[in-house]
Amino acid sequence: MTEPLRPGLGRRSFLGLTGAGAASLALPSLETPAWASPRFPSDPFSLGVASGDPLPDGVVLWTRIAPNPLAEDGLGGVAQPHQQIPVRWEMSRDESFGARSIVRRGVASATPDLGHSVHVEVDGLDPHREYWYRFRVGNDESPVGRTRTAPALGARPSSMAFAFASCQNYPAGFYTAHAHLAEEDLDLVVFLGDYIYNGPGQGAIGRGYLPAHEVETLPDYRIRLGQVKSDADLQAAHAAFPWVVTFDDHEVANNWASDDVDPDVPVERFLARRANAFQAYYEHMPVRQSQRPVGPDMRIHRRLTFGDLLDLYVLDTRQYRSDQVRQDRRADPTRTMLGDDQEGWLRQAVAGPTARWNVLAQQVFFSQRDFTAGPDQGFNDDAWDNYLVARNRLRDHLAAVGTSNPVVLTGDVHMNYVCDIKADFDDPSSRTVATELVGTSISSQGDAAPNPVGDQRQLHENPHIKFVNRDRGYVRNIVTPTEWTTDFRAVDYVSRPGAPIRTLASFVIANGQPGAVPV
Ligand SMILES: [Fe+2]
Repeated sequence: MTEPLRPGLGRRSFLGLTGAGAASLALPSLETPAWASPRFPSDPFSLGVASGDPLPDGVVLWTRIAPNPLAEDGLGGVAQPHQQIPVRWEMSRDESFGARSIVRRGVASATPDLGHSVHVEVDGLDPHREYWYRFRVGNDESPVGRTRTAPALGARPSSMAFAFASCQNYPAGFYTAHAHLAEEDLDLVVFLGDYIYNGPGQGAIGRGYLPAHEVETLPDYRIRLGQVKSDADLQAAHAAFPWVVTFDDHEVANNWASDDVDPDVPVERFLARRANAFQAYYEHMPVRQSQRPVGPDMRIHRRLTFGDLLDLYVLDTRQYRSDQVRQDRRADPTRTMLGDDQEGWLRQAVAGPTARWNVLAQQVFFSQRDFTAGPDQGFNDDAWDNYLVARNRLRDHLAAVGTSNPVVLTGDVHMNYVCDIKADFDDPSSRTVATELVGTSISSQGDAAPNPVGDQRQLHENPHIKFVNRDRGYVRNIVTPTEWTTDFRAVDYVSRPGAPIRTLASFVIANGQPGAVPV
């Protein structure tokens, strides 16, 4: 619901609108009653602000009116829960929000059916430019967020910096990594899933999950997301950069696959749960209307393009996959990871035309990972290894169509890895056709537990794996037309706040030469 800036209003500050200007600002017509003069006993912007999915001319702005995010409706009985709440937003070329700096403004409606969340799809912006944004409801003003549009289609940006992260189990550790992430100089953050966990975990650091049971209902998921998003470090990372998000399993339930979570749970019951999870997820993420779920279905796979430098294919390896099977059935050719529609969409997209770097932002381990010492092999049945034919089909397609510089980004495993994606994983001398970068968790599993014997075994059994590490943190990437530099950023502990950040290791991928090499 964007509103082009009218010249008469452009001379007024945001604060000026609260006086006489506010009364004269026409609100959009609303189907249900609007709460015209909302008053809150506590900060309605307790969950902060966010932006996401940048285009060359626009970006999504997000907030949620939640003075009591741990109440079922976020409002906590303090307000008119069945009314819509008009939320003003504005976007500025600089932090001053001065009259000449504001470029767009409007009024969005925070509605009860979406937990009073707001998703504003701003358009009409300049490409490849920083902007600042903020919201206002009643007399309350939100924190200021900073965002950035994508380069114009066909533009030739000289570099792009982005980080990817995943797995922020709240009871397991403090979000110190997010505090450091917010201080980086980035264009974008990509989040690969496990934004929340579904279980009742209470941990040992005073960050026990609410509600204190396995989440299943819409209020359950709202409270869980509200609790996690109350974290100041996470809010800082959202306010600093646009994010591109996808989910993994724990946003819904552990290791779910399509409509199946457990043989004992009827499909209808799981789909009702999935609908609750998706609705609450949508309500809390800076994604577009095209990602809004319909019942248990949510299209999260999508493509974002950053000039001629980088194409980002955000994937969904949960919603359409075949169920996990025992290892002796992993080569069943009928089994799928992406589902026919998403796989077809991806195959067509990577066949071109594309940008120079083609990035698959996805969840589970793509390369072969044999855990069993000696000639026998043992694999993770939740990863692409358990979907052998689908994995090899995608890998072989990338090679056959000559996709430019394919790089697979992975979360899920709470460890850092660098892998050569081989034409034949069982033949170390076969061609390297793509690169996989696996990022550790923000907090999941708590403080790192070194396992040098296990790490050595993995490296020995899997010669295509170049790097293994168990620290907490995130992965920073600086991409230019000629090379991609990756820095594995780590904090030494998450069991208490305040850990400094350091770079554990750096790797470079040269344009046209798949496989990352240490620097
Ligand atoms: Fe995880």
